[in-house]
Amino acid sequence: MVKVPPGVGPKNSQVLILVGATGDLAQRKLLPGLFHLARGGFIPGCRIIGVSLDQLDADGFRRLAREALNQFSTRKVHEEDWPAFAETLDYVPIAAGPDALRAAVESAERMLGGDTSRVHYLSVPPNAALSAVRLLAEAGLVERSRVIMEKPFGTDLASAVALNAKLHEVFAEEQIFRIDHFLGKEPAQNILAFRFANGLFEPIWNRNFIDHVQIDVPETLGLGKRTGFYEATGAFRDMVVTHLFQVLAFMAMEPPTALEPVSISEEKNKVFRSMVPLDPKDVVRGQYVGYLAEEGVDPESDTETFIALKCHIDNWRWAGVPFFLRTGKRLAEGQRIISIAFREPPKSMFPIGSGVGAQGPDHLTFDLADASKLSLSFYGKRPGPGMRLDKLSLQFAMNDTGRIDDVLEAYERLILDAMRGDHTLFTTAEGIERLWQVSTPLLETPPPVRLYSPGSWGPKSIHQLVAPHAWRLPFERAWRAPATGD
Ligand code: BG6
Repeated sequence: MVKVPPGVGPKNSQVLILVGATGDLAQRKLLPGLFHLARGGFIPGCRIIGVSLDQLDADGFRRLAREALNQFSTRKVHEEDWPAFAETLDYVPIAAGPDALRAAVESAERMLGGDTSRVHYLSVPPNAALSAVRLLAEAGLVERSRVIMEKPFGTDLASAVALNAKLHEVFAEEQIFRIDHFLGKEPAQNILAFRFANGLFEPIWNRNFIDHVQIDVPETLGLGKRTGFYEATGAFRDMVVTHLFQVLAFMAMEPPTALEPVSISEEKNKVFRSMVPLDPKDVVRGQYVGYLAEEGVDPESDTETFIALKCHIDNWRWAGVPFFLRTGKRLAEGQRIISIAFREPPKSMFPIGSGVGAQGPDHLTFDLADASKLSLSFYGKRPGPGMRLDKLSLQFAMNDTGRIDDVLEAYERLILDAMRGDHTLFTTAEGIERLWQVSTPLLETPPPVRLYSPGSWGPKSIHQLVAPHAWRLPFERAWRAPATGD
């Protein structure tokens, strides 16, 4: 079992009110994540109250949670750890009303005793977020509380501004934790370590040395039961205006003055302010063949299940460097990479045909999978007579540290941070509103969706978008298998 370092857990006991407790996210990530945190000793005094439209009782909710763990936990669930966790679970159906919810919270607080805080996790679709906030207000559960909000935060600038204004009628900004789980991924934080804990790369981290950047998150996953949510959301709102832009900010920001919420948000927001509003001509929207026939999808739906775009950050560091972003469902591979292409040397002394430049520019690649990897590729001499050049690489895999079991999954890390009141890895109202502003031209005049076959890399026009460059994925050379320790 992971040993919890001092200061990592919350200082006092917590009652977590999980609204949307029977939903997809709760079952896939939140319940397994909370189980792992509880079992690992990160949240010793914590009781969880599930809330949703489903008419369940506490036992019904425990059964659902057990099933979710069986199905979705990425780690082995030991039978002997279950009863203690099950005992911390309670449930209140929304129909029971605010008084019943308050009574359940107070009962949990009595059981915990002493100083307790409340964490409301709103794992609900955007159109249900405000009614959940009203329920919490009517139940008198705002004081001593923090609220974790799920994206998308609004659907455009006007709705985001309105949502933030309504939220602020109930919760103060410092109580609000807008979650973007990509920022909770270990490798996303490793971008900060890599860039700002080393003197080696920062001097070349700019337009003089970097040719272009790709943030590429193809998914093989289809939509399953999520079509209802997805129809109204689409790939741009689901992934780009949230996760991909946030990762872009970590990659592009200036060095923050401290690893603190204000300094980090300030630098991220400066990146967002420097972003040039998206030009619909630089966007490819796609829809996989077969989407229209899925249950819950309008047969004439224009929702994109794929998006690729080019954007620019018009500041001293990045002017003229294109950033290519791509993500979509039912694509050929599931990957999450940031790939940085360096400028090529201005002249080559190597004879034609020696291979220099033949396999693209030098690349620095971050793999954002939980077991993250990093690769720096360069040209080197092929052993033997003459001078033939091959693409070689230096690679690091998190596995090499021997501490892969210590990795917290993104949601675990962020729930823990919210319980401790640490906003560093959360997004801000200002940043989100600016991102909607940048997105306005695309939202107002979206290009038509183009069809793509499931299992492909998207519509054909993605190649024109990135030309004269090429998409890094699929990789020409596979990652090296991580060391086994032999
Ligand atoms: C979610 C999106 O926020 O992120 C999903 O709603 C997407 O559509 C998921 O599949 C990807 O996250 P991860 O952590 O699995 O890469």
